[in-house]
Amino acid sequence: MSWKVPRSLAAQTHRQLRDEILAGIEPLLFEDINGGYALRARLEAAFAAEIGLKHAVAAHSGTVALFIALRACGIGAGAEVITVGNSDISTTGAIRQAGARPVLCDVREQEYTIDPDLVAASISEKTSALLPVDLHGHPADVKALRAIADRHGLKIIEDAALASGARDYGAPLGAFADVTMYSFAPFKPLGSAGNGAMLVTNDDDIAARLRLLVGYGAAQAAEMGAQDYIAEGYNVPLDSVQAALLLVKLPHLAKWTARRRAIVAALEAGLAGTGAVTPRFRPESAPTFRSYAIRVPARDRIYRGLRAAGIEAVVHYAPPITRYTVYAGAFPNSERLPVTNRLAEEIVNLPITPELTDSAVKYMIKTTRDLLRAV
Ligand SMILES: Cc1ncc(COP(=O)(O)O)c(C=O)c1O
Repeated sequence: MSWKVPRSLAAQTHRQLRDEILAGIEPLLFEDINGGYALRARLEAAFAAEIGLKHAVAAHSGTVALFIALRACGIGAGAEVITVGNSDISTTGAIRQAGARPVLCDVREQEYTIDPDLVAASISEKTSALLPVDLHGHPADVKALRAIADRHGLKIIEDAALASGARDYGAPLGAFADVTMYSFAPFKPLGSAGNGAMLVTNDDDIAARLRLLVGYGAAQAAEMGAQDYIAEGYNVPLDSVQAALLLVKLPHLAKWTARRRAIVAALEAGLAGTGAVTPRFRPESAPTFRSYAIRVPARDRIYRGLRAAGIEAVVHYAPPITRYTVYAGAFPNSERLPVTNRLAEEIVNLPITPELTDSAVKYMIKTTRDLLRAV
C-alpha cells in the first residue's frame, strides 16, 4: 500500500543527501575495504560530541548493544534488573540473556515511562541495576532514578533506542546513566538503512569493557604476531556502510528533532477537545517523537480507521511483554502493572517523520477527529 501519511520518508531525505552519502560509501567498496574502522571511529567521536559524553561505542544493533551494556556493567547470573513491561522484547531479552532476571515496575500514566516513586518497592538484595526505557522518545526521569540507584549501589543502563535527539534537564539523554543505548534501526529518529546502535558513557572502565566485548575481547593496539585476548567477546561492531550513512545524517538530527516536535505541537492542538488523551511531560523534559503515542477510546477501531484512510498508524508495545508466549509464567505478578496494562489497550501511534508536510499533518488531524467523533 502506498500511504498518504507513512511512518518514514527517510528515502526522500537520502535522495536529497545522495552525493554526500555515496561519497562516504563508495570508497569502502572501491578503494579501501578496510576503511570501516576509521569511519566508525569518526562517527563515535561525532556522536560523543553531539551527546556531550566522553565515550561512544558503535554496535551492530540496539538489541545486542543492551546485552553488551549489561555485561560491561557486570550484570549477570543471580542479579535482578528493574525495568518496564511496555518495551521491546530486546529490553527484557538482553537482561535474561545476560543471565539476570527482569523485575517489572509500572510506568507513569502521563508520559509512559518508569515511575521512580514505585521503583523502591521493587528493590531486593539481588537488585543490581535499573533499566529505564525512553519509550516513543519520551525521557524517563533518570535523574530521579540516579538518586535511588546511588542510595542502593545500583547501575543504570538507559534504553534510549527511540530517543536520539531528546534531552532532559538541559542535557542529551545519557547524562545520569552509567551506559545509554541509542538505536539506529531504520524507523528510529536517527535511522540507518539496516541495523545499528551507539553506547555512550562517561565512565572510562565501562567504555573499555564495551569496546572489548564489541570487538572479540581483543587487547587493544597489539603488534602483529602479539595478539592477545583478555576476554571472550563478540564481533558486533556497527556495520561500516551504516556508519558512513549516519555520519552524513547526524549533523541534521537537531533540525529533524525540531520538526518532529513542531508536528506533535500541531497534532496536540488539533486534537484538543476530542476523546484523545495526549502525553504530558515534566517541565524539564524535551522529548523527541519516534511516533505520537496518543490514548484513544475504541483503540482498535481508530487504528483500523486511520490505516484505511492511508495513515500508517501502528500499535507499539502492545500487548505488554508479560503476555508474550516466551514469557508464559515468567512474570506472575503482572497484574501489579495496572498502568502498563491499561496503556497497552489505549495507545495508538500516529506516524511522525520530519519530512511530513503541513497538509499531511492537517489531514491526520482531520481524519483522527472524524474517527473519534464516530466512536
Ligand atoms: C525500546 C527499544 N529497545 C530496544 C530496541 C532494540 O533495538 P534494535 O532494533 O536496534 O535492535 C528497540 C527496537 O525497536 C526498542 O524499541
